[in-house]
Amino acid sequence: MLQGKWLRGVVALCTLMLVTVSVPGLAVGSEGHGHAGRAAHKVGILLVAFGSSDASAQVSFDTIDRKVAAAYPGTAVRWAYTSHIIREKLAGQGKALDSPAVALARMLDERFTHVVVQSLHTIGGAEYHDLLRTVNGFKAMGGFAKLVLGDPLMATQADMAAIVAAIAGVIPKERRKNEAVVLMGHGTHHPANAFYAALMFQLQLQDPNFFVGTVEGYPDVDLIKAQMRAKGIKKAYLMPFMSVAGDHAKNDMAGDQPESWKSIFTNAGIQCVPVMKGTAEYDAFVDIWVGHIGNAMKAMGV
Ligand code: CO
Repeated sequence: MLQGKWLRGVVALCTLMLVTVSVPGLAVGSEGHGHAGRAAHKVGILLVAFGSSDASAQVSFDTIDRKVAAAYPGTAVRWAYTSHIIREKLAGQGKALDSPAVALARMLDERFTHVVVQSLHTIGGAEYHDLLRTVNGFKAMGGFAKLVLGDPLMATQADMAAIVAAIAGVIPKERRKNEAVVLMGHGTHHPANAFYAALMFQLQLQDPNFFVGTVEGYPDVDLIKAQMRAKGIKKAYLMPFMSVAGDHAKNDMAGDQPESWKSIFTNAGIQCVPVMKGTAEYDAFVDIWVGHIGNAMKAMGV
């Protein structure tokens, strides 16, 4: 099926080239044929998330969709999920979601000329780089006039500063200075994992009781526990640092099983208050992603 899409993409590309070549001959009085004097710009945005099969994740994705539509009225916005497992799960529920490659082939078929592919990942890790390879593949095909990949949430020092400000703005109002705020990032084997410790350093410059741990990378839960104990923390607000408060937030962070962060901290004498909201549910974080679409639009000259 994917091959079929690629083939159709190539066919669309050839058609596009024919149209471009024949334009000078059609310059006058060709409107009836459905072409203007010049090949028109057709601008689109492809939003790419890891994906989630969790119904509550839709709140996050709806927030992003609404804010992107408000920032770019009249521009087509499409979605793709990078996770095969999630797409297969959703297909079983009758919800068809494209992979980035299929979504881009479709947009090529529909003669989009300028496309921003916006990563909705948190860091430029393995999934972001898979997406970059797909985008580079389409660039090599040459079908789009411009194709630009937007940065993930946390890519530059300016992003880090914006994230520190966003976090300060969304922590629960009742939290006191001697209570901890623990962000749970995903974590990865990819070198971009270093962003999590870098974020914790910059957060602690603002507030020494802010912590950033990860489920699958460094810093891990034991390190965060040891740091909180060393500081005599008695209460912690646990917040997912992932776009969606899905499986990891519900189970690894706030679950009742003994290996959850809530259980590990509680057993260490730290009272836990989980906050079940993904970053994409907060305007302050979504604005950072939307800003990255703006940068990509500028890079395309649109
Ligand atoms: Co995971």
